[in-house]
Amino acid sequence: MKIIKLNAIDSTNTYLKNLGRETRPEDGLVVVANAQTNGRGQIGASWQSVKGKSLTFSVFKRFSSLPVAHHASVLFTTAIAIKEALEALQIDDVAIKWPNDILAGGKKCCGILIENQLQHETIATAIVGVGLNVNETEFNALPQATSLRLASGRVFELDRVLYHVSEILLKHLSAIEELSSEVIKTRYEASLFKKGVVSTFETPESDRFSGIIRGVKSNGELIVEKEQDVFETFEVKQLKLLY
Ligand code: BTN
Repeated sequence: MKIIKLNAIDSTNTYLKNLGRETRPEDGLVVVANAQTNGRGQIGASWQSVKGKSLTFSVFKRFSSLPVAHHASVLFTTAIAIKEALEALQIDDVAIKWPNDILAGGKKCCGILIENQLQHETIATAIVGVGLNVNETEFNALPQATSLRLASGRVFELDRVLYHVSEILLKHLSAIEELSSEVIKTRYEASLFKKGVVSTFETPESDRFSGIIRGVKSNGELIVEKEQDVFETFEVKQLKLLY
């Protein structure tokens, strides 16, 4: 595994994006930062991490002919891989909260930010950014956040967690083009938090409603049953699942 270790950078995703413009990074390159000064989250949010306690890293992945229509396979696969990696560390009750938060004991311990670079109708490369809370013991303003330490009562060595998670992530990302997108989607759905149970959702207009998660579409949209046999699908920006 080739790893670039940085002391501080704005964002490991941005670093890899710039590197990809200037050079030809090798498939599977991992960039990890001790500290990010402008960590980026989903939908324009920021991502906070604690130096020496959190892991912030990004993986550069090349694909040979992955159709753009299969973009959600990268997201699904990343979530599946991280769940598997955390379970192998004996973290209990790991689940995927749509679209790609990883929960331990019902609280978020990991966020994922994927940025694809397209070429014609294919995804040429993807930058898969992972923010993993490892040894934090408090999240003052974030009651729904947790860390591997809080979830397990154990202290982890950051480097070991980095190698372990990256290895499993790269193994799964390398298999994407060999698997059918339907198989990947089914595996993702099997780990989906609150699937099949009545949950509360919130729209960007702050309207709340109840519904049941039934699965996802192949493009990543969430399928919610709002009333019996009345289904609606939502894009990421259209819906928030409340805990
Ligand atoms: C989320 O909002 O849940 C996604 C958070 C993703 C954070 C990671 S940390 C490493 C990489 N670099 C970034 O700027 N963001 C991702």
